[in-house]
This record gives sequence, structure tokens and C-alpha cells, in this order.
Amino acid sequence: MDKVALSFSTNAKLEKLIGRELITNNIIAIFELIKNSYDAFAHNAIVSFEGFDISSKDLGKVRHSERVISNVDSRIIIKDDGVGMSFEEVKTKWMEIGTTSKENTYIEKSLYSSEDKRVINGEKGIGRFGADKLGSLLRLISVGADGYEKTTLEIDWNKFDDHEKKIQDIDFDCYVERCTIPQKTGLTLEISLLRDKWTIADIVKLKNHLKKLISPFAQEQERFQIYLEYSKNDIERIVNDSFEYATTGIIANIDQYGLMKYEIYTALESECKEIKLVPPGFGPLKLQILYMDKAAKNAFTRRTGTTTKDYGNIKVFRDDFRVLPYGEKENDWLGIDNKHAQGAFRTFGTRDLVGYVQISKIDNPILKYFVKYRTDLLIFTVSTIIRHF
Ligand SMILES: Nc1ncnc2c1ncn2[C@@H]1O[C@H](COP(=O)(O)OP(=O)(O)OP(=O)(O)O)[C@@H](O)[C@H]1O
Ligand SMILES: [Mg+2]
Repeated sequence: MDKVALSFSTNAKLEKLIGRELITNNIIAIFELIKNSYDAFAHNAIVSFEGFDISSKDLGKVRHSERVISNVDSRIIIKDDGVGMSFEEVKTKWMEIGTTSKENTYIEKSLYSSEDKRVINGEKGIGRFGADKLGSLLRLISVGADGYEKTTLEIDWNKFDDHEKKIQDIDFDCYVERCTIPQKTGLTLEISLLRDKWTIADIVKLKNHLKKLISPFAQEQERFQIYLEYSKNDIERIVNDSFEYATTGIIANIDQYGLMKYEIYTALESECKEIKLVPPGFGPLKLQILYMDKAAKNAFTRRTGTTTKDYGNIKVFRDDFRVLPYGEKENDWLGIDNKHAQGAFRTFGTRDLVGYVQISKIDNPILKYFVKYRTDLLIFTVSTIIRHF
């Protein structure tokens, strides 16, 4: 018997599986690219719709929402002011599938700048293929190495359609420029030959989704902002204002020992209390749940264009971004409607509550080590709070 060593090899189809099939829609694709900007310590990420026939005024016009606003020349450009990548980094991080560059949970703040530390989102090494989902041509322009190196890479994703080829045999043109005067660092992704026709409704959907995906706390701290740009002077910031409509609610803070301090408030009064959760459950954790009465629901719909039922209920944010699908429409992860039907929560069902639970990957090590139980723990903790409502 002969002993031989065998290894896997990959043909070009793999890229297609990751890019166009794993990243399931345009919204997730843009969100992945925005999360990369955040991970790169950007303060701003701007998504520009170049050559789209749209202005921010069109977004409220339900009647014309199916109008196609993109054409063959339209481009989506995502630009950030993060640390960017040097040519070497483009080669070893961007061009390597499943790269492990972000395996540490958070990147040392002083590694790049004097900035605060950030809890990094990236872990799978596939988010960049969102660019492929959006359009078949990508021009990547990266200024890295503290501003002294500009790398331009042109990727034609359709080259991967030749499944006879090995993935590493498909190459692209790349230009490197050394700058004598330092430039602003960051990454720009210019995506053209869009795969889908975009309508006004798609932009409205994107805007509403992005709003739901940023934590209200992140925006409080103003450390990262997302903008949508429709034309040169028509630009709007994405703000998560979904939790501002109700006058009745509960705000709670739980520390790591299970001590919960909470405030229940209405338009007229508020009451602060403290209890010890037994068993301690899940902490530290912050939470706000709002009770949406009829007036609050109406205000919500007027301002956001969606009903609270469609918006979903209590959402979970880990650090600065959403954890899906908790709190999506019809995702009753706390079993509120069930308990409502059984009479346990007499006054409300999911459609009467909106809110958020804020946890952190770093402060809740339990998240990492007890993957199997974390949802149970979270449900236990949040349900206990709701019972006090
Ligand atoms: N905007 C950016 N600025 C600087 N570097 C970036 C940017 N976007 C991507 N990169 C680099 O390219 C790598 C690949 O990004 P990709 O999104 O595919 O993977 P990831 O972020 O590590 O993991 P995940 O798939 O979970 O997002 C990143 O790890 C990072 O090193
Ligand atoms: Mg990523």
C-alpha cells in the first residue's frame, strides 16, 4: 500500500459561493462593507449613489417607489476614513480568503492611532465579497501605510465564472503609488456594472435597515457615522431614532454581579429601583424597552414609514451593531406573545413593545464560552426585567 498526502484545492466557483450566494442581498452586502469601515477605525462611512436618478425628497413618495433609478452607468461608492491598507495589506488581507487578520476580539487602540479601542466585528473573512454581490466590477482605492502608499486594484468578479480555473490563477491589475506628501488614509470601493436594478423602494429599505443595525449607544457616543449620498449636496446621516417615540418605558442596567438598577417612567412620573437577580444571569447589560400606546405607534409610523409590527420588537445589539435576527418582525425570541396569550403579560404583546438590549463581546465573556446557553440566559434576564414592567 502506498501512502500519499492529499490536500484540498479550490476552483473559481468558491468565490461565487461566498460572494453572490452567502451574502444574500444588497442590504447585507452594504452592511458588511460598512462594518469593515468601522473595524478599520473609520469615523465616517459614506455610501454614494452615483448616477442614480434620486434625491432625498423622493424617499417619502410611496406612489413612485417602484420607479427604477439606476442605469448601466450607475455606481455605488463606499468611502471611509479608516486606517486603510498598504499594498502589502491588500495582498495579504484583502486578497486572501478567510483571512485571520481580525481573530483578536478587539484591536489595540494605539495600534493605529490614539483612538479608543473598538470591538471588531470581522470574524469570518468573507464580508468584502459584498462588493461582488452589488456589482461585477470593483475598483478598490486604498491609502494606507500612514498615508504614504496608494494602491488601486481593479477586480472583475465575473472572471470567477470560469469554473475550470483554480482560484489562485485568476489575477487582476493593481497599481501602487508612493506618495511624498502623506494623504488621508482610508478605503474607497467603487462598484459598477450593478447586478440589480435599484428602485426608490430599495433605497428606502436600505435606509430603514441600516437604521435598525446601528446601536443607539454607538450613535450617542458619536464615534462612527454612516451617510447616504444621493448627489453632491444631498447627503443624509443614518440615525437610529426608533426608540424615541414612546413616553412610557423601562431603562435598566445590570452589572456583572446581577445587581439591576432600573427606572420605570411614564410621561408624568418615574420610579427608580434596585434588585438583585437570582441567579445572576447575564451582565453587564443595558436595556431600554418602550411601551407603544396608540399615540406612540402613530408617531412612529409617521416618522419612520413603517408600523411597529413591521419594525419588530426588542433588538439585541452587541457593541455597536445589531445581532440578527433577535427582534426582527415575527421573531418573538422572548416568547412575549405566547405569554400574552396565556395571560402572563396581560397588557402587551410584541407589537406593543420596541426596545433594545445592549451587550458587549468583551464584558460578557460568557458570550464566548457558553454559546449554547447564551440565548437562554439572555431570555431569562430580559424576561425578568419585563416582569417588573
Ligand atoms: N474598509 C477597510 N479598511 C481597511 N481594511 C479593510 C477594509 N475592509 C476590509 N479590509 C481588510 O480586508 C479584510 C477582509 O475583510 P472581510 O470583511 O472579508 O473579512 P473580516 O472583516 O475579517 O470578517 P467578516 O467576514 O466577518 O467581515 C479585513 O480583515 C481587513 O483586513
Ligand atoms: Mg468584515
